[in-house]
Amino acid sequence: MAMTQSTQQATQSLLDNMHSAVLVLNGDLSIEYMNPSAEMMFQISFARAKFRPIQDLIIDELDFFSRIKSSLKTQHPFSAYEDDLLVRTGHTLALDYMASPIEYGESGSCLLLEFVSRGRHRKMTQEEHLLTQNEASRSLLRGLAHEIKNPLGGIRGAAQLLERSFNTDQDREFTQIIIREADRLKQLVDRMLGPRGIPNKSQINIHQVLEHVRSLVQVEAEHVKFIADYDPSLPDTYGDESMIIQAILNITRNAIKEVSDDGEITFRTRPLRNYTIGQNTYPLIAKIDVIDNGPGIPDELREKLFLPMITGHAEGTGLGLSIAQTLINQHHGLIEFSSSPGHTVFTLLLPLITSSE
Ligand SMILES: Nc1ncnc2c1ncn2[C@@H]1O[C@H](COP(=O)(O)OP(=O)(O)O)[C@@H](O)[C@H]1O
Ligand SMILES: [Mg+2]
Repeated sequence: MAMTQSTQQATQSLLDNMHSAVLVLNGDLSIEYMNPSAEMMFQISFARAKFRPIQDLIIDELDFFSRIKSSLKTQHPFSAYEDDLLVRTGHTLALDYMASPIEYGESGSCLLLEFVSRGRHRKMTQEEHLLTQNEASRSLLRGLAHEIKNPLGGIRGAAQLLERSFNTDQDREFTQIIIREADRLKQLVDRMLGPRGIPNKSQINIHQVLEHVRSLVQVEAEHVKFIADYDPSLPDTYGDESMIIQAILNITRNAIKEVSDDGEITFRTRPLRNYTIGQNTYPLIAKIDVIDNGPGIPDELREKLFLPMITGHAEGTGLGLSIAQTLINQHHGLIEFSSSPGHTVFTLLLPLITSSE
């Protein structure tokens, strides 16, 4: 059945406005049509891509090619869920896609491909998981801290009373041990509880904060090379300067501990627009990356890295990252990471706020 011109136009505008990326391939797998979402996804204009083989857009994915070929041959549609495809930009995209062969008059059959990106969706789920994890571990800690600190106060007080009735220093040594250990335990619990109190906010400049951290740690680790890669367009924000310094300091000190003699740590800042963290979308976010060339996060720590008491070092407390996460959560932001040997990135996502809200 022939389409009238107006139905053709309507179809065209429908395809142009779709969120999913649509491609039509010829029988020889060259590109017959792509909609604007596909242009965006594969970073190429339809004019340039027209009649080029699909292999120019999606690279070296043998499984993908064999499946679309057989779909064309057998005329059976197929779909894939969360498949990772390497595309011409060099990025690997997590995509859902559907291939539908269509009989197409005399010119034989063509293949309709529809792609939906899953990457951002997956990341949002991960981010939400980080936020809930931190909340859950903090409320557990608060309860536990309460249960420990009350009897601890009693033990310490009783030891002090007992000490008064002792006559020799040797006896007092024992009560001193009790008092010292009780104090140590209280300090530990306080540190596990992390920062308390409301942030004391003022106008702050992210790059000044980063430079401050850099000057602090450069003294501690002279062998490490620090690189600054700042986007000067980032505006000031409103936050608690010492809290943000502490968070970045904790992350940077971890990186220093991991890198070797030719260690390199990069501070990189970039703006992100209309970005969603948890339930809220912010017009502007500072993305602050702390990148190191150390060996990477051990596999067995990845899932629980931000929980308190999780450490990869015998002498570690495992509190640095849990505290940093809490500090940044208090600014409605989030810390996440990605890591492979030689390239570990801790990313602070910090909503930029112009006034006290
Ligand atoms: N940049 C990094 N590279 C490799 N491992 C890291 C890095 N940052 C943190 N880690 C791992 O995460 C663990 C937890 O860090 P943290 O919460 O600061 O506690 P701590 O430093 O006391 O061990 C570290 O012990 C280390 O094993
Ligand atoms: Mg640490």
